Amino acid sequence: MADASQGSDFVVVANRLPVDMETLPDGSTRWKRSPGGLVTALEPILRANKGAWVGWVGVSDVDVEPFVEDGLQLRPVTISEKEYTQYYEGFSNATLWPLYHDVIVKPEYDRDWWNAYVEVNRRFAEKTSEAAAQGATVWIQDYQLQLVPKMLRMLRPDLTIGFFLHIPFPPIELFMQMPWRTEIVEGLLGADLIGFHLSGGAQNFLYLARRLAGGTTSRGTVGVRSKLGVVQVGFRTVRVGAFPISIDSGDLDTKSRSKAVRDRAKQLRKDLGNPKRIMLGVDRLDYTKGIDVRLNAFRELLEEGRVDPAENVIVQLATPSRERVESYVAMRGEIEQQVGRINGEYGQVGHPVVHYLHRPIPRDDLLAYFVAADVMLVTPLRDGMNLVAKEYVACRSDLGGSLVLSEFTGAAAELRQAYLCNPHDLDSVKDAIIGALEQEPEAGKRHMRAMRRQVLAHDVDRWARSFLTALAAPAEGTNLTQR
Ligand code: ADP
Ligand code: F6P
Repeated sequence: MADASQGSDFVVVANRLPVDMETLPDGSTRWKRSPGGLVTALEPILRANKGAWVGWVGVSDVDVEPFVEDGLQLRPVTISEKEYTQYYEGFSNATLWPLYHDVIVKPEYDRDWWNAYVEVNRRFAEKTSEAAAQGATVWIQDYQLQLVPKMLRMLRPDLTIGFFLHIPFPPIELFMQMPWRTEIVEGLLGADLIGFHLSGGAQNFLYLARRLAGGTTSRGTVGVRSKLGVVQVGFRTVRVGAFPISIDSGDLDTKSRSKAVRDRAKQLRKDLGNPKRIMLGVDRLDYTKGIDVRLNAFRELLEEGRVDPAENVIVQLATPSRERVESYVAMRGEIEQQVGRINGEYGQVGHPVVHYLHRPIPRDDLLAYFVAADVMLVTPLRDGMNLVAKEYVACRSDLGGSLVLSEFTGAAAELRQAYLCNPHDLDSVKDAIIGALEQEPEAGKRHMRAMRRQVLAHDVDRWARSFLTALAAPAEGTNLTQR
């Protein structure tokens, strides 16, 4: 067992640290913010709890000693180039990611990738064991680390272990494809509390825990932040719940009201040629996000003359992501072709109708884009939550703007006043866009007010508190049903 005398009382474990190492042209290195919703959500929590964060620096084959960055205690895990290919690009992002997102792309099942996943999960468990003080609380994050709960429990039975899945948990029939399905369910059952965004995911997991791991489970529906499900694993009681994640809404609300952000938003509109309507997409460049869906819908609306290219533009901000994975390479090509085609057919010299930036945008600039956008386009084919939808709402203290939102996001369960659409049905997406473009200002304000109430009341702090409070509460093995 590791010497826990020097460790932290609260440890977050995630595939990535909140910062990635970047090498500059002159060979020097610096730290930059990591991509994705997980970091957006967890960074404020860790700061508030003064804990440690165990994760990878985002570059393979570099050994970095534990360090403090901007007040956060960071404990790097090293990943080799081969593991990067097999554990990160392979098993995490070409097996689990597509399987858990409704097999939009066919998952690949490769034994070498699985072995690398086991190996890297073991390394994370060992690093965490070194980082955690006696009796500490450890919070493990996401699909890349589903074996860590069990591995860590074997190393350190004194710890309280939570696990949260940031992506959807799939339907049972799809999960059953996984050759290592029992190992994954047993890996997760090493935690004291397993959190999902939605009750449906928790329900699916309870069924699989019974079927694959032989656990005795509770009956009844799992509630949202209430009515936890229970799995009895030998003498241990594992709880399972739904905790929809959120953002630091108060902070975004304040920042988006600043003069600097407002002025920048005005400037952006001017730079875009003062169009009547600005539509905006903000995503990692990922096939789950339905960027192609919104571009197709826009092209058909232009074709049918329902949207005037002289008055409407789309801005698509796309952060590069998983750039060597085959399905991502193919999708990038398709999207860039679509952008070129639409601009070729409907743009004017100096006035494209689609503005596409393939790079991360600095946070303050991003807020200005949210403030400037008349219509926010969030059209994933499947998304565990989608924080962008909530960020947009948090930035609209003026009650302006409208949100087009896919029913297949976790956010759709909370933002019912959005223009909801089915991304598999292009007519539904087109109608939602037209509804949003043509909404009456009074109705728009009503919708935005209701969505803001939801987002401001249910912020990331409440998410973390509800999870950590449930994790700290004693488990009760009540309401169990035999297999
Ligand atoms: P995911 O976790 O799948 O990437 P989310 O929508 O939940 O999706 O979270 C994405 C996070 O990354 C949000 O905080 C969003 O603001 C940020 N983000 C997405 N695209 C960009 C971009 N092009 N530039 C800067 N930040 C971005
Ligand atoms: O929320 C899903 C997620 O995979 C996170 O785990 C991650 O932080 C984010 O998306 C970005 O993905 P990646 O770490 O593969 O760039």
